[in-house]
Amino acid sequence: MPSFRRVVQGLALTTIFTMSAGSPVPPQADSANLGHCGGRPRPTVTITTTVTSGLPVATGGPSDPSDPVDPTGTTTATSASSTSASSTSAAPTGAAPALPTTGVAPELLGPDFPLLHVAIGRGVQNYTCAGAGSNSTAVGAVATLFDATELAFTDLDAVHAAVLAVIKKPQDGIPVNNNVQLQKLGDHFFDQNGVPTFNLGPEGKIFYAAKTGGAKAPANADKGPLGTGAVDWLQMKPKVPYSSETVGIGEVYRVETAGGVAPPCTEAGPISVQYAAEYWFFA
Ligand SMILES: *[C@@H]1O[C@H](CO)[C@@H](O)[C@H](O)[C@H]1NC(C)=O
Ligand SMILES: *[C@@H]1O[C@H](CO)[C@@H](O)[C@H](O)[C@H]1NC(C)=O
Repeated sequence: MPSFRRVVQGLALTTIFTMSAGSPVPPQADSANLGHCGGRPRPTVTITTTVTSGLPVATGGPSDPSDPVDPTGTTTATSASSTSASSTSAAPTGAAPALPTTGVAPELLGPDFPLLHVAIGRGVQNYTCAGAGSNSTAVGAVATLFDATELAFTDLDAVHAAVLAVIKKPQDGIPVNNNVQLQKLGDHFFDQNGVPTFNLGPEGKIFYAAKTGGAKAPANADKGPLGTGAVDWLQMKPKVPYSSETVGIGEVYRVETAGGVAPPCTEAGPISVQYAAEYWFFA
């Protein structure tokens, strides 16, 4: 791991930089990889939504999502798995929520598949600077994905609120709803070839992304702890051809972003910028 000379942390972000969150700004080169049409075979996917907890089980606390985020876990994985014990495998019922829009044209094109998951990603966007005054270059992202699927079916506003709350917390914070932590759904990172990857390991699903669309975040989006701005909303499709195969996921959108934009370069070296976002998975 490269020595991390310049960790940009915001405000109260005093905690350790655990390997946890981040999201992809796919390398520009990827955008041309996938046409929009063409016989994309629909992945054969069993939609077993494993929503474990995350639901507003009455816990007695106030339902202020900006309050609770667990500051105790040393790693996201352990704290995520050790908290809520309840577990159901029932898929959400009722009409699926609609993918959010920015409110400003041009919007991202809508999904081609039914909704599989809504996740909250929490982590960092990484950049490098060649030197003071240069433009930063996006080099990757790392994020933990938390399952907000069932919550999205019942109270989408609560999902948005959880994003705005968790970006204000340390990087290892876990999104909550009504004081109940959302369960870990998977990991987002860039693979050894620099390809944005979404690994929903417990479900055996993995997505290697190519950016197929982008839209500016709304003007009122949360600018993150550094006040630098919210990264673009993205549409991503499976990267093809690619040596690693996407399994079980047809499209991924990054929406409702908060933070993640690089500050101006003041010296040569890496920069990590805190961010949170919703990732919508379709299959
Ligand atoms: C940074 O990017 C902007 C916009 O693309 C460009 O106009 C400017 O020349 C770049 N600056 C440097 C130092 O490369
Ligand atoms: C991003 O930066 C973090 C440190 O904040 C580091 O642990 C991680 O390896 C970096 N990942 C990528 C893909 O650049």
